[in-house]
Amino acid sequence: MNIKKILMAFFLMIPGITWAQSEASETVGYFEQYQLEIVLGLVVVVCLVALLVLFVALYTIQSLVRLDKESKGELVQEDSAFTGIWNSINDFKSEEEEEALLTDHEYDGIKELDNDLPPWWLWGFYFTIAFSVVYLAAYHVFQWAPLQDEEYKNEMAAAKIEVEKFLATQENLVDETNVELLLADTDLTSGKNMYDANCVACHGSEGQGGVGPNLTDKYWKHGGDIKDIFKSIKYGIPEKGMISWQNQFNPKKIQQIASYIYTMEGTNPSNPKDPEGELFEREAGSEESDTTAVVEDQVSLLQ
Ligand code: HEC
Repeated sequence: MNIKKILMAFFLMIPGITWAQSEASETVGYFEQYQLEIVLGLVVVVCLVALLVLFVALYTIQSLVRLDKESKGELVQEDSAFTGIWNSINDFKSEEEEEALLTDHEYDGIKELDNDLPPWWLWGFYFTIAFSVVYLAAYHVFQWAPLQDEEYKNEMAAAKIEVEKFLATQENLVDETNVELLLADTDLTSGKNMYDANCVACHGSEGQGGVGPNLTDKYWKHGGDIKDIFKSIKYGIPEKGMISWQNQFNPKKIQQIASYIYTMEGTNPSNPKDPEGELFEREAGSEESDTTAVVEDQVSLLQ
């Protein structure tokens, strides 16, 4: 008897343990994410409650009718189909049978019966056992469905793609009116790579100048601020031999090249070309800003 109880407790716990695993630790936007499921769940609960109320009402009416007929002496001996089912799922005992079930516990005239567990309850219990087996097989043995960790990683990967898409749309919004200096190593490196591949022929490997002007001194023909440099690269100065690059590079890339060129000022290349244009004093503090940080802030706000 004791072993039976322990086994029962154990089996009852399995679904609980496995279920607990699926409690998501991440609750951000939980309602938004599972809106449909929550609403459907509520509808189902309401339906179940309504059904239950209906059943109870039906049963009460039947009992009343029965009592009424009994009192009039026209009792129908046969149980109705419903009462039959009701009795069998509850395994009700007749009064004679109850005699045999009486235990010797008695307190103040209240006696205790040693009834079996009602069948409906046992079915629920068997269902949990079957459910735990299916759950175990589905999640842990055959892995038909992703576990918590994997599901989390999948969602994070999907979210990352979303963020990248968003950042890409932001990148194309960069233009000469809002462009800001990028000082992250990755941006400056890719700026340098694009410079080395496309601009060296006319501006020199160190920006010292050649066909094009020296990019390392404080003298600029078209302005030495990040916005000016961006504009020079984007639209070019076609009549003077500097082509427009906006068909080759997207705005983000032009921003990276412009940032790299911005950081060239003040470097001392060997063999520099003489200054051209006018002395351009940069605004103090213009190096502080960083669009990636701004965009990333926006993204984190969105999440
Ligand atoms: C075919 C030669 C050539 C190439 C290639 C070239 N440039 Fe130029 N660039 C020039 C010339 C010439 C000028 C000067 C235009 C003028 O006199 O107004 C210039 C001007 C500039 C200026 C403005 C300088 C100032 O003083 O205001 C910037 C910035 C610039 N180039 C960046 C670039 C970048 C970035 C690339 C590569 C993506 C590049 N250039 C490729 C020839 C070139």
